[in-house]
Amino acid sequence: MVTWTPDLIKASKGKEFLPALTVYDYPMTRMLDELGIPMLLVGDSLGMVVLGYPDTTHVTMEDMIHHVRAAARAKPRSFLVGDMPYQSYETSEQAVRNARHLMDAGAHAVKLEGGKEIGTQIKAIRNAGIPCVGHLGMLPQHILEEGKYRIKGRTEDEKQSLLDNAAFLDSMGISALVLELVESELTAEITRSISVPTIGIGSGNGCDGQILVTHDLVGTFPWFRPKFVQPKMEATRLMQQAVQEWCNDWESLYQKQRNRRESTDSKPDA
Ligand code: KIV
Repeated sequence: MVTWTPDLIKASKGKEFLPALTVYDYPMTRMLDELGIPMLLVGDSLGMVVLGYPDTTHVTMEDMIHHVRAAARAKPRSFLVGDMPYQSYETSEQAVRNARHLMDAGAHAVKLEGGKEIGTQIKAIRNAGIPCVGHLGMLPQHILEEGKYRIKGRTEDEKQSLLDNAAFLDSMGISALVLELVESELTAEITRSISVPTIGIGSGNGCDGQILVTHDLVGTFPWFRPKFVQPKMEATRLMQQAVQEWCNDWESLYQKQRNRRESTDSKPDA
């Protein structure tokens, strides 16, 4: 099986489709690594699908370190990327310090949301020799300012800004670029214009790869599901069925025992 290094991820551009999925713990990482998934992201979507927060802005460095460590214990051959959480990369010094924490926890690279506005932080992380994945389009860590999740790149200004930021991140030596909720023709244009693989989520099929929150794909978080997701199974419903069957099996066994005891108790003494 292939070991997915940052160089191999870059070299796959234009040659093969790159599937990527999120992981938050040891069994999920081991399961997806056994399938040979090239890139696994310990995403800060952790906040919603595991920790029960309304959005990613509540996730801390401690949370991310804890879950990157758990995923890394599976020793994946997949490229294991750790998300830098909200407000963990406000300055270059803080960005490098926190990126090192995630790498020490076992990540192979870190992912940051944004382009030129976080240019000094990305430059400092790259100068420290840490591989980076970019993230443009709808940035979930900006949900409080944005108010809602929406498609980006429909206006001329947004389009130009996304093209410029993608080129900028490419020049910074990122290993791959996540494009979240980007207008689909623009996604294809960005994909053609940069040297590293683009990995789309809700951005159409013009990317080099696709990423999804694994819980959305298998239905382990059915209470909120983004519009673009088409789950392949409904695991929560199946687990609820299994638990219900287990309860019913024991309930009927206990009922039978009670009935037997009652009928013995009510027999008159000989
Ligand atoms: O946190 C996350 O899961 C992500 C993906 C949705 C790209 O950033």
